[in-house]
Amino acid sequence: MNSILNIEKNTVVEEAKAYCEAQGLEVVFTHEISKTHLQIISERTKHLPAMYHASVGMLLDRLKNGCYLLMKDGEIVGHIFAHRHTIDKYSVYERSSLWVQKAYRNNNLGLLLMDFLTKKFSKEFLISIAQDQTVHHNNELLGMRHITLKDLSPVLIETLEKLGKLRDEYKYKYYVNPYFESKINQFNKILKSKI
Ligand SMILES: CC(C)(COP(=O)(O)OP(=O)(O)OC[C@H]1O[C@@H](n2cnc3c(N)ncnc32)[C@H](O)[C@@H]1OP(=O)(O)O)[C@@H](O)C(=O)NCCC(=O)NCCS
Repeated sequence: MNSILNIEKNTVVEEAKAYCEAQGLEVVFTHEISKTHLQIISERTKHLPAMYHASVGMLLDRLKNGCYLLMKDGEIVGHIFAHRHTIDKYSVYERSSLWVQKAYRNNNLGLLLMDFLTKKFSKEFLISIAQDQTVHHNNELLGMRHITLKDLSPVLIETLEKLGKLRDEYKYKYYVNPYFESKINQFNKILKSKI
């Protein structure tokens, strides 16, 4: 990663961790969340326009990949899940249902949760498709690489398209983690042979 970005990321992550300590917040990795909490999270994704709606069933499915919760005195005040797309027999993960309670926003906790998840999936294919400039910047801080659609196999693009991710490089930017980038040519070749 670009060393200026790396310094910026480390600073931001350290600040976020210091903030957590001062506020008594804890980041927890788990595969288990009660049905009641899953219902609350699902409702939240339904009512916040920036989020994709995730039903309890979808959240249960994502929970199999593990998720990070931001906890305060036993209460969930933030979360991030990993959505697994299956392309041929390969798994491509995407961060999903990121949320931080209003009282704690703008203290880099969104980035902190993204950092945990990105690290967890460093040996898997991880992709981020976003519109927002802040998210692009965060992706760069997290060491993800911008790629263009022509770098991706049509099979992969088609699968993402079915999931509502448009083939639109004006609005969206595609970022992948270094592992994905290192395997992209190999992956495209395998997928091409399946057409
Ligand atoms: C998006 C969100 C998690 C950011 O939490 P945060 O702890 O404030 O994040 P940070 O302090 O690391 O980053 C702050 C900035 O980055 C933006 N940001 C960070 N991650 C983002 C993401 N995945 N999508 C959109 N914006 C994001 C924030 O909106 C904020 O921008 P602003 O300064 O222009 O207001 C929080 O605003 C939230 O829960 N929003 C409602 C749900 C949502 O929009 N989720 C993202 C879509 S899945």
